[in-house]
Amino acid sequence: MALLYITRKEHFNAAHQLWDSNLTEEENFEMFGKCANPNFHGHNFDLFVCVKGEPDKNTGLVMDLKILKKIIREQVTDELDHQNMNLDVSWLKGQMPSIENISIAIWKRIAPYLPVGVKLHKITLWETQNNFVEFFGEGL
Ligand code: NI
Repeated sequence: MALLYITRKEHFNAAHQLWDSNLTEEENFEMFGKCANPNFHGHNFDLFVCVKGEPDKNTGLVMDLKILKKIIREQVTDELDHQNMNLDVSWLKGQMPSIENISIAIWKRIAPYLPVGVKLHKITLWETQNNFVEFFGEGL
């Protein structure tokens, strides 16, 4: 049977600050740029969740994208949208809210809810028009 990859895109906006308390203020701004601003700032995040599987004999679908949308919204975007990711989100507590760490956390929140026979393949998270992260679950 053919193996296919399907993707659902969702959107959220959220605030964060990237700050390493082991660094000086100057070093933090050198490392994180404007993301180190002390009073937080927002980004419009685009999240792409890609799953893989074989199309069902009857429906022709790898999975119902309405179900994938529901999983993403309940597990991730409803939790993050309009929140401060340093302060408000229990499953990001104690972590630097970089798109790298957010992507790993998103992977862990979505993978357990996928239907039998469907596997999470990739989390892609865009933070700006220029910067994005891809995570394939490697090293978990
Ligand atoms: Ni930022």
